[in-house]
Amino acid sequence: MGKFILGVIVTLLVLILGGLGIAMLGFLPTNANVAPPHLEHRIAMGAVDASMERHAPHVANPVPPSDQNFEDGMKLYTMNCAVCHGSLDRKPASLSESFYPPAPNLVSDPPDDPEWHLFYTIRTGVRYTGMPSWEKTLSAQDMWKITSFLSHMEKLPPAVQDYWKTTFGVTAPSGEEEKDEHKH
Ligand code: HEC
Repeated sequence: MGKFILGVIVTLLVLILGGLGIAMLGFLPTNANVAPPHLEHRIAMGAVDASMERHAPHVANPVPPSDQNFEDGMKLYTMNCAVCHGSLDRKPASLSESFYPPAPNLVSDPPDDPEWHLFYTIRTGVRYTGMPSWEKTLSAQDMWKITSFLSHMEKLPPAVQDYWKTTFGVTAPSGEEEKDEHKH
């Protein structure tokens, strides 16, 4: 029994030191200019979602979904998020493919996560990715306004859709385009 436990400990040590050696000898890549392999992406995203499920407070959005709050959310998004996640004129973000993992386009593909999940992502950021934590930059109220805007993007009230059209020169996404694509 003693020998068995010793064997387990030695094996673990060899694995840990081997892993450290591989890292410290420079065998791990640092480049962010490629897309992550499919399996790595699946596992990492699964771990991120599970961690958020465990750590994020499951709270309701305290900001009411009013026209004014949606428009504030659109402005805040444009100023802080569009450079990585795509602007409201529906052009691709200049930096979207420059991160490992890439920054998803939140306008062409709005997130369907619950609001507490979105708020937590925005407030705390995502470690080891290009997604910053915003809690030192934006007020909680402003982060909730962006959350509200993101989660209602395809069902905004008519006045806000008009505001989108006049400000950004394109119609607000309705979710219909994607449905059309799936039909083909
Ligand atoms: C400097 C670039 C950058 C900026 C600016 C940025 N993000 Fe991100 N964001 C990223 C990257 C890269 C990821 C991908 C991380 C991941 O896959 O977990 C990400 C992920 C996200 C996600 C998770 C998407 C998903 O698939 O679950 C949300 C939501 C998000 N960002 C919202 C925002 C909001 C809102 C802002 C503005 C307040 C913002 N981001 C600003 C780079 C950025």
